[in-house]
Amino acid sequence: MTTNTPGSKVSGLTVLIATVAVTIFNMTVNISDAVADDLMEKRVNELLAQMSIEEKIGQMRQANAGYGHPPEYLGDNLRAGELGAILNLVDVETVNELQRIALEESRLGIPLLVGRDVIHGFKTVLPIPLGQAATWNPDLVEKGARVAATEAASHGVNWTFAPMVDVTRDPRWGRIAESPGEDPFLTSAMAVAMIQGFQGDDLAAGDTIAACAKHFAGYGAAESGRDYATTNIPENELRNVYLKPFKAAVDAGVMTLMASFSDLNGVPATGNSFLMRQVLRDEWGFDGFVVSDWDSVHQLSVHGLTEGDRESAYEAATAGVDMEMAGKAYDHIQDLVADGRISVDVIDTAVRNILRTKFRLGLFDDPYVNPDEFPAIANEHALQVAKQAALESIVMLRNENGVLPLQKDRIESVAVIGPLADAPYEQLGTWIFDGDKSLSVTGLEGIQNLVGGDTEISYVRAMPTSRSRADVQFEEAYEAARESDAVVLFLGEESILSGEAHSRADINLPGAQAELVREVRKAGKPVIAVILAGRPLTLTNIVDDVDAILFAWHPGTMGGAAIADILFGVEGPSGKLPVSFPRMVGQIPIYYSQKNTGKPPTPETIVHIDDIDPFAPQTSLGMSAFHLDAGFQPLWEFGFGLSYASFEYDEIAASAADVRVGETITISAKLRNSGDVPATETAQLYVRDLVGNVTRPLRELKGFKRVRLEPNEATRVEFQLHTDDLAFFGRDNTLIVEPGDFHAWIGGSSNADLKVAFRVVD
Ligand code: BGC
Repeated sequence: MTTNTPGSKVSGLTVLIATVAVTIFNMTVNISDAVADDLMEKRVNELLAQMSIEEKIGQMRQANAGYGHPPEYLGDNLRAGELGAILNLVDVETVNELQRIALEESRLGIPLLVGRDVIHGFKTVLPIPLGQAATWNPDLVEKGARVAATEAASHGVNWTFAPMVDVTRDPRWGRIAESPGEDPFLTSAMAVAMIQGFQGDDLAAGDTIAACAKHFAGYGAAESGRDYATTNIPENELRNVYLKPFKAAVDAGVMTLMASFSDLNGVPATGNSFLMRQVLRDEWGFDGFVVSDWDSVHQLSVHGLTEGDRESAYEAATAGVDMEMAGKAYDHIQDLVADGRISVDVIDTAVRNILRTKFRLGLFDDPYVNPDEFPAIANEHALQVAKQAALESIVMLRNENGVLPLQKDRIESVAVIGPLADAPYEQLGTWIFDGDKSLSVTGLEGIQNLVGGDTEISYVRAMPTSRSRADVQFEEAYEAARESDAVVLFLGEESILSGEAHSRADINLPGAQAELVREVRKAGKPVIAVILAGRPLTLTNIVDDVDAILFAWHPGTMGGAAIADILFGVEGPSGKLPVSFPRMVGQIPIYYSQKNTGKPPTPETIVHIDDIDPFAPQTSLGMSAFHLDAGFQPLWEFGFGLSYASFEYDEIAASAADVRVGETITISAKLRNSGDVPATETAQLYVRDLVGNVTRPLRELKGFKRVRLEPNEATRVEFQLHTDDLAFFGRDNTLIVEPGDFHAWIGGSSNADLKVAFRVVD
């Protein structure tokens, strides 16, 4: 894959066709793409016609080539045409040798897909995907994926298992770290950006890799956030929420999808033909391939759907899993075909889907990788993108009395305290197989590099890990705090506390961290908490004991440099929450786009458990949808994030009172920076459909824009809203646009209160 020739490449031939766009009955057809697709399809079919059933089934297998599985034995499999893909091999010389065997020593010379979890960077690590979503900056997210793709491709990887596009409303779930959060619109925008970054404009170029939207579908709704647990999602909610980002990924040209481990409404996703045949193929027209998750075909019997691997292979293959990852169940396919249980057509379709992907990647022309043709790993550009992503991902949740930014000239000494202040590995977060912790700039280093010359810095780790309850150096921490002008406490979760199979039932700060906060507080100095974590945490028990909170997620390689810049005001915070932060775990699931219910709560209808009047009748409790001990609002809502400036929204307007179905309306508002410093605000558009054929959410995000403004500068932020953007799946689960009344809000979070009404008319 080292060449980058113009035109479309089909099996050794470079087809050079001038791009001609013609308009036929109002449809613009790109002739070169259409002809290239036809040629590719022809070549796929020619190849398929020569393949034995063994060779076809071979393409449907992906073998583990890592974790103690020496790749040597794969050579024989390749010679025999028994393997279509591998994963977890990042040694470029061995990959090239395996490609050579596949091309030169197998009967049909079909190259190999080389997969790897490149989730948020390769050697250079970007913030976790949840942190990247907090940037609300798809262009930056695309750049990050481009950096990751380039570094990974230089190691022989041509396929990543990303982006993860599972909407999730449960911060207990460890894999929320990998997701873009609770909202289908924001998740879709992030998914598309990552796919563009990984796949680029030319998939056959040497530095682009195939993307994989996962986990299809519903994985993020695991019961109680316990990884791999069952999901029950009514079809209407599935379509209106969970499937949306997958549809966006398919529309953006994602090459592959991964079936989820989880059970969906009684049929595990890996054997779910509703998902993979009806929705993905028939409704969406996807022509790439679906890979199982790790051994998830075999697991169909563990779920209790089948009696054993043979039946599992039958269920998965007929439901539409084209390739089995790291399992042996597909060894039964040959028998199933011989017995007439699976038709050859099913196998041919799967193999076509896989071959198409290999052609599109240009692997038939040149699957070899020459690392010398790639830019250096962790080069200046890569580190700059990683730093910018970290900067924009940080969300300021609290800033009492403007304690931040710290003023260099007034702060002569800073105590840097906490288990995550100088933890180069922990700040990288989950899924960093290839991440290089020696590149990490920690928080302590970032502060030293920025102000170390003028400011005295004392560092106390205070706890060996974020989970420690014993061996805690409270006294040293207190002393350091007492002797300094300000305290920066680096708290949160070490990386192993989030990610796959790392769910938590209690999402408070783990270990003795809350006690550490209170101990340090006693010193009477300004306390700034910088929190590094793979999920939203419940911070109710410490929020009043700190003056400021910067929520930095797991920020990756350049996290410490970004944090220091924000602490000292070199840059301002501009991140906004991609997920609601509950007050306490019992509120989960809590998300902004809830339905109204028949008894909606308001501040007037709720009462706190401590305020219940012992003499009042029961009914005075308000009879609305709230918790006696937590109310009905999160601690911080979706879309929230503070700035060193302040922003005022005003003069919201709709371009017309009515919009006809099929047309566009513009919703706009005036936005002014009313603060003293230049800053970036993310303006957000929310819409409510007041009456629907099925009940509609209280609000849905429909647009967002990052806007940079100087002090006192004002602008009009405008959002174009087509009535298609208001479509939803109705009672019969078809997509409809209903005439009726709508409200729209523009503001700085999902609690925006600047509202305008409009109507959709026939
Ligand atoms: C995960 C996938 C991942 C795969 C390969 C599985 O356990 O669920 O997301 O891509 O492993 O590493």
